[in-house]
Amino acid sequence: MKGIILAGGAGSRLFPLTLVASKQLQPVFDKPMVYYPLTTLIEGGIRELCLISTPQDLPRFQQLLGDGSAWGLTIDYREQAKPAGIAQAFLIAESFIAGDAVTLILGDNIFYGGDSFQKAFADFKSGAAIFGYHVNDPERYGVVEFDAHGQAISIEEKPKQPRSNYAVPGLYIYDHSVVSVAKNLKPSARGELEITDLNVAYLRRGALHVYRLGRGFAWLDAGTSSSLHEASAYVQTIEKRAGIKIGCPEEAAFRSGFISLAQLSAVTSQMPKCEYRDYLAAVVAEAERLKVQK
Ligand code: TTP
Repeated sequence: MKGIILAGGAGSRLFPLTLVASKQLQPVFDKPMVYYPLTTLIEGGIRELCLISTPQDLPRFQQLLGDGSAWGLTIDYREQAKPAGIAQAFLIAESFIAGDAVTLILGDNIFYGGDSFQKAFADFKSGAAIFGYHVNDPERYGVVEFDAHGQAISIEEKPKQPRSNYAVPGLYIYDHSVVSVAKNLKPSARGELEITDLNVAYLRRGALHVYRLGRGFAWLDAGTSSSLHEASAYVQTIEKRAGIKIGCPEEAAFRSGFISLAQLSAVTSQMPKCEYRDYLAAVVAEAERLKVQK
């Protein structure tokens, strides 16, 4: 399974913050937003990544994430000239996907809790898999309707009259056929290649699996100033209470076996003195203690 992080877009709702940096580089509490979706993919065991952003912002992401080797990853970079829709990612990344299965995650989506994604990656064989998450304001999202047997029967993009409260979060899994399906999409009325149209194409073929994300799972999107602030507050609350970090790619890479304890220790020791470094130093110390006990 390969992974695409889609981190372009206009970010108009965050203006004037986006005059300083693109949306996915804004801080969510103690780290840049893109660290969260990056960590979600690492936790899912995905290590071949492609990041797509605008021509202006791509160099900044390259500077921040490099070639990914510090986390045991490879990261390719691709430009999206204009925000012409989420599904365009598969056309832009065709040579990266190269006939493999692929997960797309939106660069402003933050997920926390449970192992639903890990299970979905492990179970995935063919077709497409997406998720449904109960929200208060489904009309802002793609909305999935289920029948009495829990089967998805319709998906609509930003419907005025939603058929359910289940919104589709920004993590989608596809088999190799996604590129050809995306090539057959027509731009919507707003001129975008819609991810919902792509999902509907799989649904019509009977090849779409929709998992319902249960209670206890957090999905936050950080696209407005208020939701950005709420996401920061959420992350701070959990981190302070539990003494763990959400969205820490170094730790995730170590726990996923992408880097060794010695590599984690080396990466940590290169960081300036800060709370983030102290946290990782504690992860290293605990792992060393457990190793000695074995
Ligand atoms: P949106 O939040 O729907 O759009 P946006 O980021 O352009 O923001 P705004 O509506 O405030 O102008 O996009 C969801 C995510 O997908 C976000 O991380 C940006 C990304 N995206 C792209 O990278 N390219 C695109 O063409 C689109 C539509 C979105």
